[in-house]
Amino acid sequence: MSKKVLVTGGAGFIGHILIKYIIDNTDWEVISLDRLDYSGNLNRFEHMFKGYDKNTKSRLKIIYHDLKSEISNLIESQINDVDIIYHLAASSHVDRSIVDPLTFVQDNVLATANILNYARSMNNLELLVYFSTDEVFGPAKPGQSFKEWDRYNSTNPYSAAKAGGEELAIAFENTYNLPIAITHCMNVYGERQHPEKYIPNTLWKLKNNKKITIHANKDKSKPGSRHYLYSEDVASSVLFITNNYKKLKSIQFSNKEIGPKCLKVNIPGTKELDNLEVAQLISNFSGFDLDYELVDFHSSRPGHDLRYAIDGEFIMSAGWKPNYTVEESLERMVQWYLKNPEWLEF
Ligand SMILES: NC(=O)c1ccc[n+]([C@@H]2O[C@H](COP(=O)([O-])OP(=O)(O)OC[C@H]3O[C@@H](n4cnc5c(N)ncnc54)[C@H](O)[C@@H]3O)[C@@H](O)[C@H]2O)c1
Repeated sequence: MSKKVLVTGGAGFIGHILIKYIIDNTDWEVISLDRLDYSGNLNRFEHMFKGYDKNTKSRLKIIYHDLKSEISNLIESQINDVDIIYHLAASSHVDRSIVDPLTFVQDNVLATANILNYARSMNNLELLVYFSTDEVFGPAKPGQSFKEWDRYNSTNPYSAAKAGGEELAIAFENTYNLPIAITHCMNVYGERQHPEKYIPNTLWKLKNNKKITIHANKDKSKPGSRHYLYSEDVASSVLFITNNYKKLKSIQFSNKEIGPKCLKVNIPGTKELDNLEVAQLISNFSGFDLDYELVDFHSSRPGHDLRYAIDGEFIMSAGWKPNYTVEESLERMVQWYLKNPEWLEF
């Protein structure tokens, strides 16, 4: 049966890809709720809907609201009940959290409390998915990868505020029986990503003959690394979790008698790449020459970690896998940006 879903942060990078994926792969109605800050952009919808018919476009409704405030009666009547909430709205750029931590507490903790409290008032909510991050686990040693219920160890205000939102979500499930799933994503990349992010920004620099700064360790011998995950694969994993919520929860808690029971799912990237390897791939796919220097960024800028890593065994053994290799999706993304160069400018 057709569902109605609410995507908070829908005008953001992952939010709009998730909405496109839902529109393309289901018959669901979608509401995007967003406050449209510097990273929220309604032009994403217009661009992604090019060539779509009027009926399909009408399945998306747009609501403006800043979740730092509670959901008012007016906003509630505009939403008018939904089956599922995907809570993606957040301040998401780590560097900005180091400059302005309080905004991150308001957007990632207080705003999460407001959406959870609203969800609590709903009658037939099937699921609320809280989008968290691999950064809550803190830096990972070489070879180490964290499992869903490993301890948190935030090293910057962004990840601490995301972990705070997670704990509230767990508390709301255990106190009020709200059905909740928490996801831990790795570094996500894809079309219409904010151009200040590493991959689009590197392509812009290559295109404009600028030197690429590669963040590395103290003696500049080893570039930092991340696991990368394509945005469309994130969207497919979220639908997988939605469709298999009860099954996943029973597997995760089959041996657990006590303690909080709230589904947490790591969404793994297909491959770990260091910052230099990523720049080299972008250079290969675009045909632009690479000029770079390694810099000791991490020790001069506290809050930046050289490596994050999560273990994706749980969701993979339950049957989900990404559709693209990093190389396939990165090439696809680079070619897309070369055809749509306006999305590289900011
Ligand atoms: N991008 C990644 O690599 C990544 C990795 C792991 C987890 N995540 C998480 O996924 C989610 C989406 O990330 P993204 O990269 O799309 O971020 P984004 O910054 O592109 O989008 C966030 C959206 O939330 C909106 N927003 C922020 N605060 C709000 C508020 N108080 N009320 C209403 N709207 C608000 C913004 O306007 C923006 O449209 C975030 O929760 C982020 O923490 C992202």
